[in-house]
Amino acid sequence: MNTIAVVLVVVIMILAFIIIMYYNKHLEARSKVSHIPGIHQFQPIILKIPFLTSHINLKSPIYLQIYDLIRKHGRNGVMSISTWKTSSVAIFSPENIKHVMVKYAKDYPKPQEQVYEAFDIFGPNILTTNGDIWRKHRMLSNPAFNDDHIKLVSKVTNQTMVSVTKEYWSHDSFDCNVVEDMTKITLQIMGIAGFGRDMKALNEDQTYDRSKYTMTFREAISRAADEIIIARFRYPKWLLNSPLPYFKNCREVVRNADLYLDDIISTCINDSDPLSKNYDLLSLLVAAKDEENKTGLSRAEIKSDSFIFLVAGHETTASQLMWSLWLLAKHQDVQEKVRKEVNKVFGDREELVHEDYDGLQYLLCVVKESMRLFPPINGVVKVATKNDVLSGYKINKGTIIRVNFYAMQRDPEIWDRPEEFIPERFESSNADHVDPMSYIPFSIGTRKCIGFQFSLTESVFILAHILRCFHIDLTEEQKKSNFVPTPRQFITIKPKELNLQFNRIKDRS
Ligand code: HEM
Repeated sequence: MNTIAVVLVVVIMILAFIIIMYYNKHLEARSKVSHIPGIHQFQPIILKIPFLTSHINLKSPIYLQIYDLIRKHGRNGVMSISTWKTSSVAIFSPENIKHVMVKYAKDYPKPQEQVYEAFDIFGPNILTTNGDIWRKHRMLSNPAFNDDHIKLVSKVTNQTMVSVTKEYWSHDSFDCNVVEDMTKITLQIMGIAGFGRDMKALNEDQTYDRSKYTMTFREAISRAADEIIIARFRYPKWLLNSPLPYFKNCREVVRNADLYLDDIISTCINDSDPLSKNYDLLSLLVAAKDEENKTGLSRAEIKSDSFIFLVAGHETTASQLMWSLWLLAKHQDVQEKVRKEVNKVFGDREELVHEDYDGLQYLLCVVKESMRLFPPINGVVKVATKNDVLSGYKINKGTIIRVNFYAMQRDPEIWDRPEEFIPERFESSNADHVDPMSYIPFSIGTRKCIGFQFSLTESVFILAHILRCFHIDLTEEQKKSNFVPTPRQFITIKPKELNLQFNRIKDRS
């Protein structure tokens, strides 16, 4: 045998050994869940490879592929999924969700290493921790979302929207880039209500200190909250620390975000009475003290929690607004019905106040229905720490549980005409028909979103201002093509692109 043949045989043997090793790992993972109806593929969710990647790949948004698979293979609110070495079970029935998220929530913590560590850019925080550490973060953060703070959210949103509808959108008729503008608006509101700071999200900030920073506050924070978290999900740690230009740039973003957060926190901590000026989240977080031992969060904890408020708080609401605006443009009858309510509440005024929120009940139904069809976060992930039983199937310790809001919120067994946009189903006269366990865009149980009221208040006032000032329509091309936005799935699920026609309403009679 010549040398080439020997090398070839060795390479083939090594490859065969690696494949057998991988396949064994897959069989091990698969055996933990194979008794539950579902799908199994040897390949991880990467490229579509015939015979190997038979079910899920990166071709289209994974949540839609999983939804189709659930419709085909799911039984009694469960479906097993094993890909390469992970074994998981998707759950999507109110009974199973109540079991995992409420009744036995302590047996189903978050899988930190596998999923949540990517969010720990500035250290462990309220979103990513479990047990006593999480309890401390949550207890000290709860007061930050009190009534005084929600009133500030109302005020900041209304003031921002007066200026957006007059100055930022100064034209009478234009194609609105909804994805970009909703992200900017929610970031601007989060800057003031979250940090007492004008992030200049709507216009480029030219005034930042170039001797200290290499980018604006907005760029540093919004890139850290999106791009950097995604990079931490995708790439191993050693690559993130490598000298390759892309990763060097990522580290520069984190350095800037870190410096900005440090500066803002220092100003707040050095202020003897920050709450005399503002009820923003950061001031409330700095002021929070444990009743028993009078201690608060450390400086590092304040930094990591306030960063998480930014991550969790602006893109989620922005995604919800994007879907709501598209649905309103598509359903002109609903838009007109909301506008009637909005105009009645505004009367002759230009700006609303916190107390007006209660008068915008139909608009709130629109927001809720939009989140039923398009939950910005389509589910959460837990891990079983004990053997258990769900829908009569054994759940082995260590199994990843994927709580799927999207599938449950479109389940024809639960919802009448599930694929249709019908805000009326959330009206108080019909609300009895909605089982609270089957509608959970903000999650449920002790880990329910701490910012849900912040988000609802902000969304309702943003939409109220838009609908008072503009008629929203699909473009001619969208009307002809029966347009549905293509979703983009990263941290949230939002339209990849969405331009809608905005026409200013001049005659409100
Ligand atoms: C439409 C808007 C929003 C949606 C759909 C949403 C949804 C969610 C969901 C599903 C969770 C559970 C995540 C998990 O367990 O992994 C969550 C948690 C959280 N959300 Fe939201 N959220 C929204 C807005 C906000 C806002 C405005 C804030 C803050 C200002 C916020 C802050 C948080 C925090 C800190 C957590 C972690 C809570 C904990 O684990 O104790 N969210 N959110």
